[in-house]
Amino acid sequence: VKKIILDCDPGIDDSMAIVMACKSAALKVMAITTVNGNYPVDITSRNALKTLEMINRTDIPVGRGMSQPMVRRSPKDPFTHGRDGQGENNLPEPSTPLWGRNAVDLMIKMVKENPGEIYIVCTGPMSNLAMAFQQEPGIKEKIAGIYAISGAFGLNKFAFTNATGDTPQSEWNVYVDPEAADIVYRSGVSLVALGLDVATHFDVNLTEKDMERLQQSTRPEAGFLKKAIQFVNGRGFEAYCAVIDCMAVAYAIDPTLVQTIRGHVGIETHSNLTLGMTVLDRRHHHVWVDLPIVNIGAKADYERFLAMLMDLVLA
Ligand code: BDR
Ligand code: CA
Repeated sequence: VKKIILDCDPGIDDSMAIVMACKSAALKVMAITTVNGNYPVDITSRNALKTLEMINRTDIPVGRGMSQPMVRRSPKDPFTHGRDGQGENNLPEPSTPLWGRNAVDLMIKMVKENPGEIYIVCTGPMSNLAMAFQQEPGIKEKIAGIYAISGAFGLNKFAFTNATGDTPQSEWNVYVDPEAADIVYRSGVSLVALGLDVATHFDVNLTEKDMERLQQSTRPEAGFLKKAIQFVNGRGFEAYCAVIDCMAVAYAIDPTLVQTIRGHVGIETHSNLTLGMTVLDRRHHHVWVDLPIVNIGAKADYERFLAMLMDLVLA
């Protein structure tokens, strides 16, 4: 069983990532840490608690993390996750308290107590991780690895980006806090960056039959997913938008789902046009030696991913 900390900004798809992670027998969720991203951190923290209450897993501590990116102001999410940040599921207000101190402390504490054992599954901006590395550099060598929904590398025909109209090459999580991503990519901690290339798919989708199975289930999380999909569909997006972040959890459960390549990647932190772009050096005869080497998701078995997701939601 793999120990993970889920660092997230729920968010529709982050909420589903929480459900998947908590229900998987292959994972032990040690903590959930929340961050500013899809919404301000108060909302993402409340949504994490609401999600845990929905699936009766309030035994997992939730730490509230960074309320702003490392050095800049947070942009506003161009893709709204609904008024509640959960696709208008309007789950009941949570009664479970947050962990007493902040998420960065929680992360540091857990990693120190479990040296070499914890994987951080990061489905939001990397602000908490970057802050933890600055505050306590020693934890870097105690983290087993990071699996992140991060960047867009243009490695298959489904590559697309989602930051804002002014930054056509940027993926939202990196765009929100590019300086944090730069710190984490350069940290030397083993990183698997699952970009939007592999975390989305335009051809393979949940089917009518899947929707019926969700409809027939008595599990509240099945109803949640169904409503979330209807919400994104209603806004002109396909079902994948409701489950992007689930790919990082699926990868933690079964790394054979995604083929990865190793490559030198730089994060753009200056330009207006390409702010937050993950620049992969793909040249044959030259490598950009100053850039860190990370593992990049190159191809996912999206059908198997959806099957795993459905099984866990309905379990
Ligand atoms: C990311 O954007 C957010 O809206 C989703 O939660 C996901 O983490 C993908 O770029
Ligand atoms: Ca997210």
